[in-house]
Amino acid sequence: MTATHGANPLRDAADRRLPRIAGPSGLVIFGVTGDLSRKKLMPAVYDLANRGLLPPGFSLVGYARREWQDEDFAQEVHDAVKAHARTPFREEVWQQLIQGMRFVPGDFDDDQAFENLKSTIEDLDKVQGTGGNFAFYLSVPPKFFPKVVKQLKKHGLADQKDGWRRAVIEKPFGHDLTSAQELNKVVHEVFPSNEVFRIDHYLGKETVQNILALRFANTLFEPVWNRSYVDHVQITMAEDIGIGGRAGYYDGIGAARDVIQNHLLQLLALTAMEEPASFDADALAAEKTKVLGAVRLPHDLGKDTVFGQYTAGWQGGEKAVGYLEEDGIDPKSNTDTYAAVKVEIDNRRWAGVPFYLRTGKRLGRRVTEIAVVFQRAPHSPFDHTATEELGHNALVIRVQPDEGVTMRFGSKVPGTAMEVRDVSMDFAYGESFTESSPEAYERLLLDVLLGDSNLFPRTEEVELSWKILDPIERHWDKRGKPAQYESGTWGPVEADEMLARHGRSWRRP
Ligand code: BG6
Repeated sequence: MTATHGANPLRDAADRRLPRIAGPSGLVIFGVTGDLSRKKLMPAVYDLANRGLLPPGFSLVGYARREWQDEDFAQEVHDAVKAHARTPFREEVWQQLIQGMRFVPGDFDDDQAFENLKSTIEDLDKVQGTGGNFAFYLSVPPKFFPKVVKQLKKHGLADQKDGWRRAVIEKPFGHDLTSAQELNKVVHEVFPSNEVFRIDHYLGKETVQNILALRFANTLFEPVWNRSYVDHVQITMAEDIGIGGRAGYYDGIGAARDVIQNHLLQLLALTAMEEPASFDADALAAEKTKVLGAVRLPHDLGKDTVFGQYTAGWQGGEKAVGYLEEDGIDPKSNTDTYAAVKVEIDNRRWAGVPFYLRTGKRLGRRVTEIAVVFQRAPHSPFDHTATEELGHNALVIRVQPDEGVTMRFGSKVPGTAMEVRDVSMDFAYGESFTESSPEAYERLLLDVLLGDSNLFPRTEEVELSWKILDPIERHWDKRGKPAQYESGTWGPVEADEMLARHGRSWRRP
């Protein structure tokens, strides 16, 4: 390989191996008293500090309506870290982190509170050396996004002049195409697009990034990754939990908006896209955008989509109530807690190959996987009675739990007859690597502080995903009642029938 423009490839390679450490900076969390903040964000900040990936003066500012002092906030973070951090608690790391912790009480209309936030940041710049670099994490219900962003502008907090200012936005990014476009407009009036980070935490998962490694760092898979060899693809995100205490968020949103619009369509994009020219944000976004733009919905949405709602049943040996009996849910609600959708991709690689996406709450067990199911061998020289039950070859990327990859293929059964049976070959992260994977939020928060936007969906991706989902949601609205399934099962029979009509069946992961 020849070096170009005087670049030294050896030095570049060495640089890439250096740990990625954030420069002087701080993080402001709006909605700091919420579940996400306690279970994911605060622990992720601590884990990054513990791994030495945050600058010494890193600062964490909480903003919420509670009348807390800095000490109360620090105690809250302490409890969250003790309960949910991935890495062991170390007093010296904590003592350093606590130096930069501040709390600003206020609601989103409160101009004085935003002025207080401004002076808190200026003070941190002086005492902690944060250099004016702050990320604002909007862990708040989406209806507040525009308000918070406008307040940041009004109070000069989004000015890029004294350092960088970034907006980190949690999903759901809108509830349909129109609302997402409106939101994008408001956000881009305040922050330049390269300073806006939309979180899809699935992209922060190691196994999701491994889709790209598997496909593009090997020669084995790519030659068969197309319509000539693949029969269909199944992308499953099954959860065993119900909606927990999230009735207010979930009812009216439903499974498809909650996770198909973002997580599952991102998994589809990574599985189906063409090889990007490089692993940089622009190149990745270009390929993902192309493939999302080529997604085609089925002609008959009635037959090739299913929406369902869980009824009472048993989960993990315990009785589970139905969705309509959950606290805070409208007893007449038609919200989907299960969704299955067939799509196709209109390009030369995938023409005619169905991609089946399904997700649901209160299903048999928690599992997220992508199964690439291959066509049967065109001819078998073996006795057909022994082999007719054979499944298809499949490559299964297990996103979680039991992270890894499984390949399924036929093998001869020991004995004198030529009998062939399906077997599996397994790669498990836990067995091949000694270090445990960082949590998705750890990876993504660090990327925000580094300004690395590879793993964040762009405006176009978010809007294209809504374009895919909107007609489905409209169709379901017209239909009214969702299909029912008992808690602890694998979803409504209608979803099984949908695949059976195509001569296929869902995998039982
Ligand atoms: C979130 C959804 O994005 O992902 C939740 O809003 C869901 O409804 C969660 O439970 C699942 O995340 P994970 O990482 O546990 O698969």
